[in-house]
Amino acid sequence: MRKKRVAILISGRGSNMTALIEAAKADDYPAEIALVVSNRPDASGLGRARDAGIAAVVIDHAPFGEDREAFERALDGKLQACRIDIVCLAGFMRLLTPWFVTRWSGRMLNIHPALLPRFKGLHTHRRALKAGVPRHGATVHFVVPEMDAGPIVEQDSVEVRASDTEATLAERVLEVEHRIYPRALRALAEGNAKLPPAGDKDGVN
Ligand code: GRF
Repeated sequence: MRKKRVAILISGRGSNMTALIEAAKADDYPAEIALVVSNRPDASGLGRARDAGIAAVVIDHAPFGEDREAFERALDGKLQACRIDIVCLAGFMRLLTPWFVTRWSGRMLNIHPALLPRFKGLHTHRRALKAGVPRHGATVHFVVPEMDAGPIVEQDSVEVRASDTEATLAERVLEVEHRIYPRALRALAEGNAKLPPAGDKDGVN
């Protein structure tokens, strides 16, 4: 079967991007990383992608100002030109409009550093420590118009230790992220994870 062509969208260091690039090197992996796009010109992940021999481009959101859809049309144009099948958000710090999300519905994943549905949004490690949860982790989910709310594809957790700081917890959760994102992308690329039709609350498979 033809490998699915994947674009990874980043805004920063791109360690999840690197985990996906590494996983996709395996001959039997069902997806190839065809493109990396950053909305920030200074994202350090761009250099990492290029070092790995992957086309990496900047589509800066700043010149588009408040016009989110105009930025997304430029992004979508690039994805279409590169014949992308699947989009992976990996530390992409930009809210996407329903227009873009609907266009890529069932073909776009995001990774979130918490055990969704708990701790949607930012500062998840700080909030998990404050809440005193015994376990914390990461989730890969389909992207739907509501933020951090799509059906879950992969999730895993670590124990929260009494000695944990935000930084130590983040470090252990990041290891989880790097493990589960390649698994989730594999599942989607092989057709083993599907976005249920709208209104069906029974989960992904
Ligand atoms: C990760 O913690 C990811 O879950 C979150 O942003 C961070 C990005 O890290 N959405 P990296 O750029 O993949 O290293």
